[in-house]
Amino acid sequence: MGLVATSVLWIAIISIMCIDVIRAHDGFVSCMNDIIPFVNTSSYVFTRDMPMYSSLVSSPHNPRCSNSTASKRPVGIVTPNNIFEIQASVICSREHGLQVRVRSGGHDYEGLSYLCKTPFVIIDMRNLRSISIDIKQESAWVESGATLGELYYSIAQESQTHGFPAGVCPSVGVGGHFSGGGFGAMVRKYGLAADNVIDAYLVDAKGRFLDRESMGEDLFWAIRGGGGASFGVIVAWKIKLIRVPPKVTVFNVYKNMDQHTIDIIRHWQHKAPKMKNELFIRVLIQYVHNDTNPNISVQALFNSLFLGELKDLIPLMNETFPQLGLKEKDCLEMSWIESVLFLAGGLNKTAELLQSNKTDPYVSYFKAKSDFVTKPIPQHVFVRIREKFHQQKLIFMIMDPYGGRMSEISESHIPFPHRKGNLYNIQYLVKWDVNGVRASNKHIHWLRKLYKYMRPYVSKHPRSAYVNYRDLDIGTNPQANTSYLEAKVWGEKYFKGNFKRLTKVKSKVDPDNFFRSEQSIPLHQD
Ligand SMILES: Cc1cc2nc3c(=O)[nH]c(=O)nc-3n(C[C@H](O)[C@H](O)[C@H](O)COP(=O)(O)OP(=O)(O)OC[C@H]3O[C@@H](n4cnc5c(N)ncnc54)[C@H](O)[C@@H]3O)c2cc1C
Ligand SMILES: *[C@@H]1O[C@H](CO)[C@@H](O)[C@H](O)[C@H]1NC(C)=O
Ligand SMILES: *[C@@H]1O[C@H](CO)[C@@H](O)[C@H](O)[C@H]1NC(C)=O
Ligand SMILES: *[C@@H]1O[C@H](CO)[C@@H](O)[C@H](O)[C@H]1NC(C)=O
Ligand SMILES: *[C@@H]1O[C@H](CO)[C@@H](O)[C@H](O)[C@H]1NC(C)=O
Ligand SMILES: *[C@@H]1O[C@H](CO)[C@@H](O)[C@H](O)[C@H]1NC(C)=O
Ligand SMILES: *[C@@H]1O[C@H](CO)[C@@H](O)[C@H](O)[C@H]1NC(C)=O
Ligand SMILES: *[C@@H]1O[C@H](CO)[C@@H](O)[C@H](O)[C@H]1NC(C)=O
Ligand SMILES: *[C@@H]1O[C@H](CO)[C@@H](O)[C@H](O)[C@H]1NC(C)=O
Repeated sequence: MGLVATSVLWIAIISIMCIDVIRAHDGFVSCMNDIIPFVNTSSYVFTRDMPMYSSLVSSPHNPRCSNSTASKRPVGIVTPNNIFEIQASVICSREHGLQVRVRSGGHDYEGLSYLCKTPFVIIDMRNLRSISIDIKQESAWVESGATLGELYYSIAQESQTHGFPAGVCPSVGVGGHFSGGGFGAMVRKYGLAADNVIDAYLVDAKGRFLDRESMGEDLFWAIRGGGGASFGVIVAWKIKLIRVPPKVTVFNVYKNMDQHTIDIIRHWQHKAPKMKNELFIRVLIQYVHNDTNPNISVQALFNSLFLGELKDLIPLMNETFPQLGLKEKDCLEMSWIESVLFLAGGLNKTAELLQSNKTDPYVSYFKAKSDFVTKPIPQHVFVRIREKFHQQKLIFMIMDPYGGRMSEISESHIPFPHRKGNLYNIQYLVKWDVNGVRASNKHIHWLRKLYKYMRPYVSKHPRSAYVNYRDLDIGTNPQANTSYLEAKVWGEKYFKGNFKRLTKVKSKVDPDNFFRSEQSIPLHQD
């Protein structure tokens, strides 16, 4: 008796809670059907009652985010096959008071491409991933749902002497990556991915389909580094291909993180940002389990791409960075596309693996933070970092050198402002494989302490951060309102002086703040 009464009560409560969602979902689907009557919505709109819903909604990359209790499940997920279905999704979401989250590769560090606290729809770009290469014009159109691996592979299919300067991880989506800047092993020679974007297709907050000419230079400026998700749905990018030599050289030099290695890192800090632009040497400090001798469990990996041949690299290193003691046997010559796999950690894998259906998805619980370094960090700090790494085993500190082309492009050319004066970027990343909130909190707390410790040694006023390594710790928009002054705190970390211009563009193109999230660009206020 009591049980029945209780469950009746529960049903009542559940239906009160769900009623908004059900209405929103019905309205949304019939709105989509009204706008595009000739296509059965069930082929591209998936609501909670449909079997495909669960598998489509889940984003495996960072289960830390998927388990967020604050987030609701989306009312529906749309997997558009064309521009009309994106336009309809925007119009119908607006009409029914739903927010949208746009997902391309789904790698957002805080899950913002698929999580939302208020009723929402996911627009998932997985079916819009075509790539067309024009070698004659040295350009390409690439749809947002394509991955970096697919793009690199497609270029290499057409030409062994062309490439594109974007990130090292093949599973990252071009939709999010280019809109936040995007850098990899050719950053010193060719700058960011976003620096090499020459046109784009976008659906704006009113559902209009625009290209560079019709969106205007302000909006085109904003989407190249201002972060996706504030200005519209990017459908495709047109990019300028760059030339790579037929043979490039790569190396991995592992060093036990002893005093000598710390001294090499001291030299690296001075030299790596000033070397020939063709040479990129990054350092990854990581914990490597060693039962034999726990004292040598922290390693520094010098991981490099040289856009040239081995015979030129050895004398160059001897001249400019002899401290590393690079030997011929440490190096491998290969084509550029093979170097993509090498840098992604896949030695001796074939380039076919870059096609998305063959790429292993990157899956891990992780939390990351970023810094920029403008003055070399003192050696004692690296000694301390080594000690700290012994307390936390799955930890990585990745240091990517800047300089070269990056120092030639002005801070305001695109919204990404971290140019001249930056020696290198640091990404701190902690991973764990144990489920649950308590385990997560422990690791996140540890990472925050490391970040606090690093404060005196990194950029200041503001302490800069990279928007593609999204970190909600540095600040979020207050819910349901957009206080310009509060957003300025995190906004200037990501965008420095460009933040203000981003807010002005935002006010012009999306005055109702339809495209919003925890870290979207707010409207401008004087
Ligand atoms: C394993 C791994 C390796 C990485 N390596 C690098 C690296 O080498 N260099 C580097 O610079 N970065 C790197 N990153 C960071 C990466 O650039 C960002 O996470 C990037 O934002 C991911 O883009 P996405 O499309 O995969 O992610 P998503 O989660 O789909 O999107 C990220 C953000 O962009 C928005 N967005 C996505 N698509 C669109 C669209 N079509 N229109 C409008 N907004 C959109 C989303 O709403 C979200 O806010 C790496 C990340 C991971 C997880
Ligand atoms: C749309 O497709 C679904 C599943 O394939 C089917 O059940 C439904 O009847 C179709 N609706 C219309 C209007 O054709
Ligand atoms: C590790 O280092 C500690 C402190 O320097 C030392 O006491 C210990 O003997 C070392 N262990 C090994 C196996 O070298
Ligand atoms: C572990 O330490 C020993 C020396 O004590 C070394 O020979 C071995 O290469 C190390 N293993 C790894 C995986 O670094
Ligand atoms: C490195 O440079 C020194 C002189 O600066 C020279 O004596 C030596 O032969 C060079 N080594 C290589 C491997 O080029
Ligand atoms: C990679 O392949 C080459 C030749 O195909 C071989 O000599 C080398 O040992 C392989 N390396 C690894 C790590 O498997
Ligand atoms: C993977 O994708 C490629 C093209 O993108 C296609 O030719 C191939 O058949 C696909 N393979 C599998 C196993 O789905
Ligand atoms: C999600 O959180 C719950 C409760 O804290 C926990 O039991 C579960 O293991 C977590 N799941 C994942 C995938 O992290
Ligand atoms: C947002 O906050 C400001 C002041 O903090 C207030 O004046 C404004 O009305 C709020 N807007 C909304 C939409 O709540």
